[in-house]
Amino acid sequence: MSLTLHLAHHAPAASDTPLLVVVLPQAPALTEALASLDASVGGALSRSIARRDFRGGRDEALLLIGGEGGIQRVLLVGHGSAALTRTTARRAAAVAARQAMKLGVGAMHLYAADASDDVVEGLAIGAAAGSWEFTDLRTPAPEADRRAPLTDATILAADRESARTAFSAAVALGEGQAIAKRLGMLPGNYCTPETFVEVGREIAARHGMTVTVLGRADMEREKMGAFLAVAQATPEEPRLVVLEYKGGAADAAPVVLMGKGICFDTGGISIKPAPEMEWMKFDMSGAGGVMGAMETIGRMQLPINVVGIIGSTTNMLSGTAYKPGDVVRASNGKTIEVVNTDAEGRMVLADLLVFAKRFNPAVVIDAATLTGAIVMGLGHNAVGVFGAERNVVDEVLAAGERAGEPGWPLPLWDDYKEQIKSDVADVRQTGGRAAGSITAALFLKEFVDGYPWVHLDVAGTAYSQTDLGWIPKGPTGTPVGTFVEFVRARAR
Ligand code: BES
Ligand code: MN
Ligand code: ZN
Repeated sequence: MSLTLHLAHHAPAASDTPLLVVVLPQAPALTEALASLDASVGGALSRSIARRDFRGGRDEALLLIGGEGGIQRVLLVGHGSAALTRTTARRAAAVAARQAMKLGVGAMHLYAADASDDVVEGLAIGAAAGSWEFTDLRTPAPEADRRAPLTDATILAADRESARTAFSAAVALGEGQAIAKRLGMLPGNYCTPETFVEVGREIAARHGMTVTVLGRADMEREKMGAFLAVAQATPEEPRLVVLEYKGGAADAAPVVLMGKGICFDTGGISIKPAPEMEWMKFDMSGAGGVMGAMETIGRMQLPINVVGIIGSTTNMLSGTAYKPGDVVRASNGKTIEVVNTDAEGRMVLADLLVFAKRFNPAVVIDAATLTGAIVMGLGHNAVGVFGAERNVVDEVLAAGERAGEPGWPLPLWDDYKEQIKSDVADVRQTGGRAAGSITAALFLKEFVDGYPWVHLDVAGTAYSQTDLGWIPKGPTGTPVGTFVEFVRARAR
């Protein structure tokens, strides 16, 4: 990440910065702190509030031009009528960072009155999110036309230990989310299963984690017939990557984070329609989320054991591709009747879920861009959350809410299992159009054995096809925050 975050404790009026960002509520009052800032912009601040040029609505931003030195500009950013929380502060800071990027000011200070630890954390996360950009594959503009990137953001907050802790957590999360977002943006010809091996090794080396990598031959030995069926059409080596972080007691059962890593999903023989197929480069967002979360957890040095497992391949078509009607055997011995080769994510996860058992997990949470049906059901605003144990589902929902990646529970009732009964095999791969996300989750459950498990369907939330204002079109960072907040809460 090119942004460096700082924490400082001076009053906003004492800032020396090209841009001071002031986060304000709906219909803001002219507080004492604001009044002393007012002079630096020649009274424009008080006038813009009095004239209601600035009303503090959510995502509203107004730039005031100051003098040569000291506070050179003030950017008022609204958080609307909702309370200033970790989530609303994050959003406002992201709006501000995007403005700062457009202005090319290079650095900014962020101030919100009486910022709590959560608000400090939110401001820092938002600054990181808003300044994130993907430039790896673009030729840089000529020097003269270039705007300065935002390299420094300073959060202003009262001097206290807990704020410092919150701040460093935010820095760690920003780094993790940047990894996940970059992996998401990389197209299928750059992000391959090997990329997950490389990124996994880098994360492991930085934080003293152990890394295990399986390839095709290893998976054959493990009898992972479901994962291998998907990988059958691609010449690329499929990869299963395991990162083990040991922050807890040697014998403490780990939290297992698991992700679907389809580097590109053509649908296979059941090929997808051409329009918009390019978005399927994001079909590795679950795995990217695991990598991002492991980076963050490593940086935070949480006192807990965590295992990250990703399964990565590319869903292609060729003469060797798996076909509708094929029956394959997963590593737990169960036979699967393939119905639609586009339901490849559940095939990969099936063998991953069996594999996870060997870690004696305290809980397994998987994240996958699994079904188009979840987009029909919940749109782009909620993660689909599935699990048999209500208390663990609630834990994940709480983590998602805190992360600003809200989830919504859906049922896993046995009644739906009728839809995935097969005439020829132990289980049918898909259950038809009705309740497609639920039958997908029930299929996964066939491979869960004796540990608490929650499945996150992030097909509608891991990336955005439109600019959301506070985050640009592209990867959103979900599910990194949910994973991290879950682990953080468990580590307490
Ligand atoms: N990767 C897709 C799901 C998806 C769809 C993600 C839209 C993001 C946006 C998944 O592999 C898939 O193709 N699922 C099928 C399942 C069906 C064949 C049962 C789907 O949702 O259509
Ligand atoms: Mn698919
Ligand atoms: Zn897919």
